[in-house]
Amino acid sequence: MAEGFKEMLQGLEELAQAFKEAMETGGVARVITHNDADGLSAGGIIHRALTREGYPVHTRSIKQLEEEILVELAEEGSGVVVFVDLGSGLLREMEEHLSDKRVFVLDHHQPKEGENSIPMVNPHLYGIDGSREVSGAGMAYLFARTLSDDNKDLADLAIVGAVGDIQDGDGKLKGVNKEILQDAVNAGVIRVEKDLRLFGRQTRPLYKALELTTEPFIPGLSGSESACIQFLRDLDIPVKKNGGYTMLADLSKDERKRLTTALILKMIEHRVPPPLAESIVGDVYTLLREEKRTPLRDAKEYATLLNGCGKHESNGVGLAVTIGERSKLYQKALEMLKEHKSYLANCYSWVSSNLDRIKDGGVVYYFHAGDEISENVIGTVASMVLNSRILSPIKPIVAFSEREDGAIKVSARGTRELIELGLNLGKAMHYASEKVGGEGGGHDIAAGAKIEKGLEMEFLKYVQEEIGRQLKDESQG
Ligand code: C5P
Ligand code: C5P
Ligand code: ZN
Repeated sequence: MAEGFKEMLQGLEELAQAFKEAMETGGVARVITHNDADGLSAGGIIHRALTREGYPVHTRSIKQLEEEILVELAEEGSGVVVFVDLGSGLLREMEEHLSDKRVFVLDHHQPKEGENSIPMVNPHLYGIDGSREVSGAGMAYLFARTLSDDNKDLADLAIVGAVGDIQDGDGKLKGVNKEILQDAVNAGVIRVEKDLRLFGRQTRPLYKALELTTEPFIPGLSGSESACIQFLRDLDIPVKKNGGYTMLADLSKDERKRLTTALILKMIEHRVPPPLAESIVGDVYTLLREEKRTPLRDAKEYATLLNGCGKHESNGVGLAVTIGERSKLYQKALEMLKEHKSYLANCYSWVSSNLDRIKDGGVVYYFHAGDEISENVIGTVASMVLNSRILSPIKPIVAFSEREDGAIKVSARGTRELIELGLNLGKAMHYASEKVGGEGGGHDIAAGAKIEKGLEMEFLKYVQEEIGRQLKDESQG
């Protein structure tokens, strides 16, 4: 493993020592995490690891870390706060508002420049690509493993987090994630196989699994039930077999081969780059402790279930699932998964009937969904628009949506091809936010911001200025 990894483990060791010392004075450890799949997995890992050590823990997940939350935390009694899967963007503000608390940060977002005294372990500071090689849940897991080797069984949740952040976008996990995967396999909690990377491959009829697969996005099939049924018919693969629906596992070797080839060709026909099209086949992760034929058995479906909870105001339910609850709240989580998928299906139809609202700004595409698409899923919808390849040539996309508090949520998404050309959306969101008095950041490929209503076009001008520079610098070598 790379030198940076050893150093990062050393950093985690030091952070763990300081954390234990801070906990000696008694009191509750307050854990704050993000409310998406990665954040909820991270929260579950930390909560369980700290509980195992006998520490009283209170875990909460939030949509976005904003300064007001730090102000709220400052008022609370607990002396120890652990931020996980967030925090990198607000270190200076933590110094200001939480000066009388012991604060610890485990994050994988790109840190902002400038000195501060907050103890943070972040892969980017060790030369490790936090956008692709380790997630927030991965950082939480490595911290838990530092506390005790007994926590190695929590590695399955770290895989759910990585898959939730699409760090398996190439069809397999790499770098630090690969190390964590090895721990999960050794602990007997995960099985890795090569298969078609379809959503719900063990729980849904094949035609449905095709329809629900959006990573990678299959233009012409993703989101369209009738197209998927016709596609299977054309391939001579029966939609129903022996009185029930055909599942992926029911396919003969020959049928599976036909399906795989046809899917790759379909994507290439729609200008999906061949390596991305081929990533439809890759590693799939089975969580061996979860019940067979349930969504939690497959890492991708587990992650979507968590996103369903987080993005529809049921963070607590998602957190309960990652902490281990499998009764009433789990039933609620299953409902949220259904609701999430159906909400997204409506968003896809919204996009198809509002294509004229997607504008070409020159450097980026952009659209404003107003209050028609919830700010919670605007990022997912932006990814979908970009990955569906309905827009050509390929450019990053910036989407705006109204927040409940009247401000504007921005989500930006890029492609791997653009990253290779120098695109860094996290930096662009940060730059443009600073210019208009907002807050923004994230990863190179996926980032976001919060700005005041009315400033969208000015913000966009700065985004384009910065991205224009990024892509030009690279082309000039
Ligand atoms: O805050 P966090 O790091 O957990 O979120 C990363 C976000 O970026 C996720 O919502 C994930 O779906 C998104 N992403 C994406 N495309 C990628 C990689 C990540 O939309 N290729
Ligand atoms: O919300 P969305 O999925 O578009 O966020 C993409 C990425 O940008 C996430 O990793 C999120 O944590 C980050 N982000 C941020 N600051 C914001 C909004 C989003 O760092 N104000
Ligand atoms: Zn994350």
